[in-house]
Amino acid sequence: MKPRTTGIALLFCGLLLAGSAFAQTTEPAATAAAETQATATAEATPSCSDCHENKTHKASTCESCHGDGKAHAEAGGDTSLIDKPEGLAGANKTCLTCHDVNTDRISRHGGMHANSAAVNCLTCHAIHNSEPNAPHLLSRPQSQLCSSCHATQSASLRNKPYAHRLGRGGMECSSCHEPHGRPGRENLRKTAAGESPCLSCHSEKRGPYVFEHGALATRDCTNCHETHGSSNPKQLKRATVAQLCLECHSPIGTNAAGSQPPSFHNLSLPRYQNCTTCHVAIHGSHRDPQLLK
Ligand code: HEC
Ligand code: HEC
Ligand code: HEC
Ligand code: HEC
Ligand code: HEC
Ligand code: HEC
Ligand code: HEC
Ligand code: HEC
Ligand code: HEC
Ligand code: HEC
Repeated sequence: MKPRTTGIALLFCGLLLAGSAFAQTTEPAATAAAETQATATAEATPSCSDCHENKTHKASTCESCHGDGKAHAEAGGDTSLIDKPEGLAGANKTCLTCHDVNTDRISRHGGMHANSAAVNCLTCHAIHNSEPNAPHLLSRPQSQLCSSCHATQSASLRNKPYAHRLGRGGMECSSCHEPHGRPGRENLRKTAAGESPCLSCHSEKRGPYVFEHGALATRDCTNCHETHGSSNPKQLKRATVAQLCLECHSPIGTNAAGSQPPSFHNLSLPRYQNCTTCHVAIHGSHRDPQLLK
């Protein structure tokens, strides 16, 4: 407690004595006060930083977002004489002037989060009061930001027993989704080679294998895995392995995508229900067309 109290006392003295030699040796706030006093006495239009903290963004000047601030400054800060970008109109008029990215996957005009009254640049980004622990000027930590509108996926990732753990400086929704991307699967991030986002981390599942599981059936990981968390320990879409496999490999199933298990598979026996105890190379094999090794 003691050193802090002393610091505040020093700062207070510095403010009182602004302009004196003593102020030069104290905290930046005191120095700024000194400068303000000096400029206020000058003839020229005061500059923004005389009255405002020097707020940062990589855009070069305050005017690039707030427009010409001369009248506002000369009127001592009349707020009716300065533009403050807000909501849909502000996002369209200000942010898109410099950030109108438009590629085959990303569109700030036509993407899934294209500016609207409900969601726009300024719902997710805050220029001056962004979340200090989140990169890219986000208005809130990313997990809170996305969950405020996508409660289902967020709750699933948080509450299902087997799920990727988000936040904590590692994975985020944006590890798989490009927030400015186009709707549907187009917004899924791809690896540099244009593959599923899953392979950027699970590269050992990439192959190519001599015996692919059904000519690339496994390339789309979401055929079998639930991406926002699952009750299955391997994050499968079905509670048990057999249920999953038999959706494609079943004589009675509606999906006739796969071959039928040979007749010696007695599916009423527990021994045969855990398919991957024998078909261990489920993502593809270099040695066996039946994926047994
Ligand atoms: C002489 C002091 C002074 C100068 C110089 C000054 N401002 Fe201000 N500004 C103020 C005051 C006072 C307010 C009102 C503060 C408040 O409402 O909290 C204000 C408010 C604002 C607002 C908020 C407007 C709103 O609608 O809420 C913006 C944006 C702004 N100033 C930008 C600028 C920019 C950009 C410059 C430089 C071109 C600038 N100011 C120069 C004093 C100044
Ligand atoms: C990249 C665009 C951008 C730049 C550059 C920018 N501002 Fe802002 N400013 C905004 C937006 C947007 C708001 C509305 C509140 C928000 O989103 O943070 C704002 C709000 C303000 C406010 C009102 C207080 C508040 O937080 O609502 C002041 C004062 C202000 N800006 C001053 C400045 C000054 C001074 C500079 C230059 C040092 C500057 N701004 C540069 C975009 C910008
Ligand atoms: C005058 C041009 C200009 C305007 C207007 C502008 N920006 Fe920027 N912005 C830039 C530049 C340049 C960069 C740095 C390069 C980059 O990351 O694209 C940047 C960077 C950013 C970043 C990335 C920051 C980071 O740490 O990664 C965000 C987010 C951003 N701007 C949002 C906005 C929003 C929201 C608005 C509207 C309020 C806006 N910008 C208005 C030029 C501008
Ligand atoms: C739904 C929320 C959301 C909206 C709306 C949004 N962004 Fe972002 N933006 C993000 C997130 C999240 C990131 C960080 C992505 C990451 O971690 O790679 C980001 C990153 C950025 C970056 C830096 C990295 C990059 O992709 O270049 C810029 C610049 C940016 N946004 C500008 C904008 C502009 C301009 C708008 C409005 C046209 C906008 N954003 C709308 C969520 C959003
Ligand atoms: C491990 C990668 C990954 C992560 C992390 C992730 N998603 Fe997804 N998300 C996907 C994939 C893949 C799809 C495509 C649908 C599918 O087949 O599961 C998807 C689909 C969606 C959809 C479309 C509707 C639906 O459910 O199909 C929304 C909305 C969504 N994700 C939001 C989020 C949010 C919000 C977060 C963070 C809380 C998040 N996602 C984290 C991979 C991911
Ligand atoms: C302010 C509300 C809002 C926020 C915050 C928000 N979204 Fe969205 N998101 C929407 C709206 C609205 C749509 C378009 C309508 C729809 O499909 O639900 C959308 C669409 C999506 C889609 C595409 C769904 C599809 O089926 O095509 C994904 C994926 C998505 N958002 C992920 C995210 C992620 C990741 C974040 C956090 C970075 C985020 N959203 C933050 C409102 C929001
Ligand atoms: C950003 C890196 C990253 C991405 C992208 C990613 N994962 Fe993961 N994945 C991990 C990490 C790290 C773990 C282990 C720790 C954990 O549970 O978060 C894991 C765990 C898993 C597990 C459970 C492994 C086990 O042995 O229990 C499965 C299944 C899985 N991921 C599938 C996927 C799928 C499918 C996708 C794409 C939709 C994907 N992952 C995208 C990093 C990633
Ligand atoms: C999305 C559908 C799908 C799912 C789910 C699926 N498979 Fe397949 N599988 C295929 C397709 C397609 C082939 C290619 C050969 C064919 O026509 O059957 C294949 C081939 C195989 C083969 C090689 C034998 C052959 O006929 O070429 C085995 C063994 C196999 N799958 C076992 C499994 C097991 C075990 C599971 C569960 C972990 C599973 N499959 C889940 C679609 C699927
Ligand atoms: C045909 C269904 C199927 C597809 C498609 C599939 N997987 Fe799997 N995956 C499984 C099964 C079944 C298991 C559990 C194996 C076990 O029980 O040992 C598994 C386990 C995993 C594991 C954890 C155990 C391990 O082997 O490391 C990861 C990680 C994983 N898969 C990632 C992926 C990725 C990434 C993709 C897309 C490239 C993918 N899977 C596509 C069925 C599939
Ligand atoms: C006890 C070990 C074992 C278990 C458990 C097992 N299989 Fe098999 N499976 C085999 C063997 C061995 C073959 C190869 C038979 C052959 O070559 O004639 C095979 C072949 C297959 C084939 C290929 C049929 C073809 O036309 O080539 C499919 C599909 C298959 N199994 C699916 C499954 C499914 C689905 C499950 C879980 C419900 C499962 N298996 C569980 C041992 C097993």
